[in-house]
Amino acid sequence: MCLLNLLLHSFIGLIFIQVARADPSSYQWQDSLTSDAAPDWQKYVRSPPNQIVRPVAVLTNYTQGNVTNPNGLLTGKGATTFTRTNISAGTEKDVLPTIVVDFGQNIVGYLSIKFGGASSFNDTPGLPGIRLAFSETLQYLTNVSDFSRSYNGDTITPGSDQIAVNPYPYTWTDVHGCEYGNQVCDDGLHGFRYVKIYLDSLPADAPYTTSYGTVSIDSMSLNFSAFLGTPNTFTGWFESSDDQLNQWWYDGVYTTDMCTDTFGANDSDPRGAASPSLLGKLVILDGAKRDRDPYVGDLAVSARTSYLSHNLPQAARNVLADLADHQRADGWIPPASINNYTLPLLDYPLWWVVCSYDLLMYTGDVAYIQQYYSNIVQVLDTFYPSVTNTQTQLISKGIGISGGYGDYAFLPRSGPVTYYNALYVLALDNAASIATFLDGKQADAARWTARAQNVSASLNKYNFDITNGAFFDGTCGGEAYCETHAQDGNSLSIVTGVANATRANQVLSYLATHNARPYGNSFYDNDAIGAGFSQRVYAFISYFEIEARFIVGSASSALEEIRRLYGWMANHDPTITQWEGIGADGIPYEGAYTSMAHGWATGIVPALTNYILGVIPQGPGFSVYSVKPIPGDVKWAKGVVPTPHGPITVSWNSNPSQGQFYISTTGPAGTKGTVYVPVANASVAVYLDSNPVPQMNGTQSSASQDVGYVAVPINDDQTHVITVGFQMN
Ligand SMILES: *[C@@H]1O[C@H](CO)[C@@H](O)[C@H](O)[C@H]1NC(C)=O
Ligand SMILES: *[C@@H]1O[C@H](CO)[C@@H](O)[C@H](O)[C@H]1NC(C)=O
Ligand SMILES: *[C@@H]1O[C@H](CO)[C@@H](O)[C@H](O)[C@H]1NC(C)=O
Ligand SMILES: *[C@@H]1O[C@H](CO)[C@@H](O)[C@H](O)[C@H]1NC(C)=O
Ligand SMILES: *[C@@H]1O[C@H](CO)[C@@H](O)[C@H](O)[C@H]1NC(C)=O
Ligand SMILES: *[C@@H]1O[C@H](CO)[C@@H](O)[C@H](O)[C@H]1NC(C)=O
Ligand SMILES: *[C@@H]1O[C@H](CO)[C@@H](O)[C@H](O)[C@H]1NC(C)=O
Ligand SMILES: *[C@@H]1O[C@H](CO)[C@@H](O)[C@H](O)[C@H]1NC(C)=O
Ligand SMILES: *[C@@H]1O[C@H](CO)[C@@H](O)[C@H](O)[C@H]1NC(C)=O
Ligand SMILES: *[C@@H]1O[C@H](CO)[C@@H](O)[C@H](O)[C@H]1NC(C)=O
Ligand SMILES: *[C@@H]1O[C@H](CO)[C@@H](O)[C@H](O)[C@H]1NC(C)=O
Repeated sequence: MCLLNLLLHSFIGLIFIQVARADPSSYQWQDSLTSDAAPDWQKYVRSPPNQIVRPVAVLTNYTQGNVTNPNGLLTGKGATTFTRTNISAGTEKDVLPTIVVDFGQNIVGYLSIKFGGASSFNDTPGLPGIRLAFSETLQYLTNVSDFSRSYNGDTITPGSDQIAVNPYPYTWTDVHGCEYGNQVCDDGLHGFRYVKIYLDSLPADAPYTTSYGTVSIDSMSLNFSAFLGTPNTFTGWFESSDDQLNQWWYDGVYTTDMCTDTFGANDSDPRGAASPSLLGKLVILDGAKRDRDPYVGDLAVSARTSYLSHNLPQAARNVLADLADHQRADGWIPPASINNYTLPLLDYPLWWVVCSYDLLMYTGDVAYIQQYYSNIVQVLDTFYPSVTNTQTQLISKGIGISGGYGDYAFLPRSGPVTYYNALYVLALDNAASIATFLDGKQADAARWTARAQNVSASLNKYNFDITNGAFFDGTCGGEAYCETHAQDGNSLSIVTGVANATRANQVLSYLATHNARPYGNSFYDNDAIGAGFSQRVYAFISYFEIEARFIVGSASSALEEIRRLYGWMANHDPTITQWEGIGADGIPYEGAYTSMAHGWATGIVPALTNYILGVIPQGPGFSVYSVKPIPGDVKWAKGVVPTPHGPITVSWNSNPSQGQFYISTTGPAGTKGTVYVPVANASVAVYLDSNPVPQMNGTQSSASQDVGYVAVPINDDQTHVITVGFQMN
């Protein structure tokens, strides 16, 4: 035990005595810094402990044919042997020897199999063939992988990976390519939880492999290719009184870890997405299994997850810089490297601006912003005005080149779509903040702020459906607005302040009534513009609704939505990792193709850190920050937020029935923090380090969302304790 811990223990003793006085019930204040063993949060970390990952089970109920000692490859006690003779070929007994190996959770990388050898049956030509089919779920496990990069333009396999097993002991590793010319081929990298292994050969692989003979496997393992987020790699963490929220936070981190990888020519998906300017760089891909290409909209969520957990700013920066380097002359920025940087999306250049702002705010990368500032100007002042209705100032899909452009879900939208415009406001506001932070850019800031206000006013004037209390999605081809309301634009209208408090509450109430499903909130209220849309849930866009609920102060509804959405994913195969999309009845929305580990679905990580722990950057690199917990039913939270200046450490306890609140915060030197503490009413006393804060002893009436909070400025690197409703000695 170190001196620091000793001091803290005496400090905790003091807190306890004080609480015993203030609250004779058994309530105890807790502090984050009390642990002398391994920090408690480490038990939630999902990363495999080592880069070499071993399977945890052979699923007995999937074993078929003549397989002896199926668990041998797990235990090291004897080999697992597959045998198929042609004695009974064509009869009922002639079942392909098959096992299904479970790695226990979704993983990604290169599989190796240690073979003990193989022998052919009689004089059958060729080596005994083994085929592998990978899957993230049992539901989509078949004789071919749930998804193969061979389905996307590179057809070297029919969906399974093939091995010609040598007669002698050796270790085979799954490498992209073929053993014999264009025969006996493999995909290489896979993202999966389960792998089916069966003795079989493809007719097309003759004469190199045969479906008969004996193959023995001693063991198998996976070389994990993505970022290995073991506990020692965490620069930020989160823990609270709610065990499930805690686990899902670390599940989200692991999901983004699985997408954080070095961009490789043969690993990208589709392989045509491989770009010379990305090769060898650390990036955040969209998914582990599929969409192994970094898209900038996805980064709006996954990059925040990354900044707040492992602080690997280069992974997001490499992507943002590469996309900016491919900006078109008309200001448009490609969403990703796919199709040689030409995939036409209308929303992603706005996400590029938003992600650039986040990079500055979370990591303080001023050099990036200075280098790419002119790209921001071109996006906002050249490209978007070219797709804008000059009268309303709304982006209108159909104007200029925008007609054929898609968005994050390739939705058949048209006209002045609320989502594009609410996102436009967010990008304009973010850009105005960037301009304000830089010297000599005040004119840009003023112009973008004024335009954001105009777009905001037009959205309120033209797009709001007063009857239903929510923003329309857009038009259905003609002039009239469609009778449909989308989660994306409605949520962003609140996040950006387009919707005032009255409208924000109407919108959130509309979404709660019309979009709630057992597995989250759907992205449309009905199927007016697409079949099944009313049953489809994207955790990606749900993040902005969850944020909106916290922003209006409704932690209870934010947590309720989180519990439905993340609870569903956590309890359905493959569990742990968070999904690209959820369809009707809560199944993966695009069947086997769905990526079950998608970084864009990890909004729970920034949501809990920003609103439950309460830490949000308000200036570049957290030079200015706020700490404003919005507890809901969470009793306490503690954690660390990494910043380029050093960690921000926060620990709070809430005892709402007594109107009491305790918070301890420490920020780095040279930063300015504002801690917002909840106060029930103007007569509750607030103390900073046991001293009354008389000038702040009432509810402050500043911004509407800060009603019920008292703001306490913190301008040094000392640990400060603020208490509400009781005084510490
Ligand atoms: C096989 O076993 C696994 C793990 O015990 C189980 O999840 C799965 O539902 C079973 N499948 C069948 C088809 O019985
Ligand atoms: C299964 O294969 C083994 C050889 O690996 C053989 O000895 C055994 O007879 C086979 N069993 C059946 C039922 O064919
Ligand atoms: C099947 O087995 C017989 C002998 O038992 C052998 O002559 C024949 O070539 C085998 N056929 C195949 C396809 O392996
Ligand atoms: C997979 O199995 C199905 C029958 O279940 C068969 O039709 C198909 O050809 C097989 N695919 C491959 C690539 O082996
Ligand atoms: C990619 O795979 C091909 C075979 O399909 C191989 O020739 C090439 O060396 C691989 N490239 C890398 C960088 O591994
Ligand atoms: C795992 O892969 C890495 C490259 O990503 C390589 O350096 C390492 O040697 C591999 N480990 C094993 C045991 O094959
Ligand atoms: C990609 O586009 C660039 C610029 O238009 C062009 O120079 C390059 O040849 C293209 N690459 C491929 C592989 O088509
Ligand atoms: C905002 O709208 C007003 C009125 O339509 C117009 O005069 C003004 O130029 C607009 N401001 C910006 C920055 O576009
Ligand atoms: C919100 O905006 C609507 C429409 O502009 C307006 O009628 C309402 O009074 C506003 N509410 C508040 C609280 O500002
Ligand atoms: C203020 O809140 C405290 C704590 O909840 C409560 O005990 C007290 O009665 C309230 N006072 C007034 C005037 O509402
Ligand atoms: C703080 O509270 C005291 C007692 O309730 C009151 O007299 C004083 O005016 C308050 N100060 C402010 C700035 O509200």
